Amino acid sequence: MNANQNQAWNAIAAEAERLKRTTLLDLFAADPARAEALTFTAPHLVADFSKQRIDAPALAAMAQLATAMDFEGWRERMFAGDIVNTTEGRPAMHWALRASDPPPEIRAAQAKMTAFAQRIRRDVDSVVHLGIGGSDLGPRLIIDALGAHRVRGMTMRFAANIDGADVRDAIEGLDPARTLLIVASKTFTTQETLANAAFVRAWGPAHLAAATAAPDKAVAWGVPRDNVFPFWDWVGGRYSLWSSVSLCCLIALPSGIFHRLLAGAEEMDSHFRTAPFARNLPALSAAIQMWNREALGHGAYALIPYSERLRLLPAYMQQLEMESNGKGVSRDGDKLSRSACGVTWGAAGTNAQHSFFQLLHQGVEEIPVELILNAGAHEGPPSHRAKVFANALAQARALMVGKASSEPHRAFPGDRASTLMAIDALSPEALGALLAFYEHRTFTQAVLAGIDPFDQFGVELGKEMANALLPTLEGGAAPADIDASTAAWLKRLRAQRGNAP
Ligand code: F6P
Repeated sequence: MNANQNQAWNAIAAEAERLKRTTLLDLFAADPARAEALTFTAPHLVADFSKQRIDAPALAAMAQLATAMDFEGWRERMFAGDIVNTTEGRPAMHWALRASDPPPEIRAAQAKMTAFAQRIRRDVDSVVHLGIGGSDLGPRLIIDALGAHRVRGMTMRFAANIDGADVRDAIEGLDPARTLLIVASKTFTTQETLANAAFVRAWGPAHLAAATAAPDKAVAWGVPRDNVFPFWDWVGGRYSLWSSVSLCCLIALPSGIFHRLLAGAEEMDSHFRTAPFARNLPALSAAIQMWNREALGHGAYALIPYSERLRLLPAYMQQLEMESNGKGVSRDGDKLSRSACGVTWGAAGTNAQHSFFQLLHQGVEEIPVELILNAGAHEGPPSHRAKVFANALAQARALMVGKASSEPHRAFPGDRASTLMAIDALSPEALGALLAFYEHRTFTQAVLAGIDPFDQFGVELGKEMANALLPTLEGGAAPADIDASTAAWLKRLRAQRGNAP
């Protein structure tokens, strides 16, 4: 760490010590303009950080860190297409996929997808999308979130898991003669996806298509070359929902919807690219995530969308944040003394209130909460909308205000932090902006920690070991050099082979 970075962390530590001696309610009492001063906007999004344990001097210390970590330089390099995925020696250009004037090869790929989507809708009434991780979570979220727009009569099914129940359920009740199978895999080598794809191909779907950065592998597997929709090495798996990985969205959503999603994301890109740190919503939010994790020591945060249509957002965000920033060494390979992110977890409100909010209110540890509202029109009974808002506002307020009681079990400590955000509507544009906001926040957190958010070497070891153990579970000899626990499990599970009905 250089002298400027050290100085910034010293300033952050001093601000944190000061703020730990106060309460959130004290901060509001001391500054009548606090709610307004700590509310920031970006396209389609407003975020209120006033219930976080921060204030202007604390944010200034985080801005000092951003300068010391060359935030502006890294941001510029990413948007210039320079190599920002340093460990793999490539750029990260997912943002180029949503540019309104993309390079010709992106434009051509998009036109090919749009034409295919329009054509295939005449031949099929169901789509089975197989992929995992970034080749699954994004399109699944888009389809679910924009469900109100769905093309009538088009059934969408997803399967990701190597547990066969998933893929069996995915084809249940469908007519293969009216089904398109999409295999989405950047590498076209992923065990789960290829095993599921082989099973569904054998069932005899009328059409096969693939979304991949390895088109030759898809063709060799049996997808007609015309139905292979490429994307590029410079699109990371968890940043790939803007690419052909979302082909199913172009089929299941009416024409134009996917492009509106891209347009919303582009609006957020230009905000992130041009706004100074002090007004840059993804950057400020990253600073607060980092502040909570490293200045205040909160190991996790809970992400609670108060919107049923955004119920898959926590699962999507787990990959985006923890696969990107769950690293222990810097870009240069030095051991980190501070984490680049904490644990992301959550579920849709209000359901979450009736399961784990007990711990958020009365558990020993404080876990900051991020609540997301859809401020626009809601589906379903009109009377529900106000109730959704009342619940979200009440939870954020209850976490902060707490409640004294002479009975210890009924007391709420309060003084617990939250961020309240709202999208202006659950429109394709706002969803695009929200997802781009989170991508840029993740990137900024990585910059603040000095890591590469675009690799994921941490997923490899388990994959290698699974491949090494598989032959034994399929009846081969047990490996010689293996620990006693794994050896015992191999023996136990081999003795219990068999399929459920
Ligand atoms: O195992 C992790 C991972 O590599 C993710 O990064 C990726 O999104 C997922 O697997 C799927 O990979 P692919 O798209 O190559 O099948």
